Amino acid sequence: MSRGIATEPRTTPRLELRPFRRRDLESVWEAVHDSWPELAKWLPWAHAGYGRVEAMHFIRDSASAWAEGRAFDFAIRDRFEPDRHLGNISVWPTSRRERSGEIGYWIRSEVTGAGIATEAAARVTVVGFEELELHRITLRIAVGNRGSERVAEKLGFIQEGLLRKEVLVHGVWLDHTLWAMLEEEYRAVRPEWAERGWVAES
Ligand SMILES: CC(C)(COP(=O)(O)OP(=O)(O)OC[C@H]1O[C@@H](n2cnc3c(N)ncnc32)[C@H](O)[C@@H]1OP(=O)(O)O)[C@@H](O)C(=O)NCCC(=O)NCCS
Repeated sequence: MSRGIATEPRTTPRLELRPFRRRDLESVWEAVHDSWPELAKWLPWAHAGYGRVEAMHFIRDSASAWAEGRAFDFAIRDRFEPDRHLGNISVWPTSRRERSGEIGYWIRSEVTGAGIATEAAARVTVVGFEELELHRITLRIAVGNRGSERVAEKLGFIQEGLLRKEVLVHGVWLDHTLWAMLEEEYRAVRPEWAERGWVAES
């Protein structure tokens, strides 16, 4: 599998996905600050007092992770209103030998329900299969997170099983379901993603 990928923005019909920049600090912090009650239900790092220092650490680590091929974090922006931070989406390798990777995301609460996670996840899945040359991509979704399950279902990920007490979120161990898409399943479903307007024609 490929170790590194280009830093150029990836686009979808509505969105631009691009690596983080230092000057994103304020907009990232603002998006987390506005969304923390929803994010904190499922994500261990989100909390009421999330500060600019944490946002700065994230942005710094994101740059080194990209350079080292550890993880590829993308800022999600509206192509026509690029200063507003809409959320984060990442893809990272979990095993180089098996060419497997994982995707994770969150969307600013003000703009949920508009298909942004689905469109961004479709585009990052394309990055995973086409650029990182993955063979299998997984998603781990906390039991009860119906919105995220819908994202996985709409894209055609298959639910494979249950990971008991997988993630400690604010003192509570949350069970997660494991979802996966194989490369051949991606090839089969990719034209439908273009028809639905989530990604451009390949
Ligand atoms: C989950 C999340 C990423 C969804 O983002 P989004 O941009 O709203 O996603 P989309 O609009 O593409 O799709 C969401 C789907 O879930 C549905 N949905 C959302 N909340 C739901 C709920 N409580 N019950 C049933 N369906 C729900 C929406 O109706 C939509 O489905 P539809 O298109 O069939 O109507 C976003 O809510 C979020 O960031 N949540 C907090 C962090 C998080 O959970 N991250 C994911 C960890 S795995």
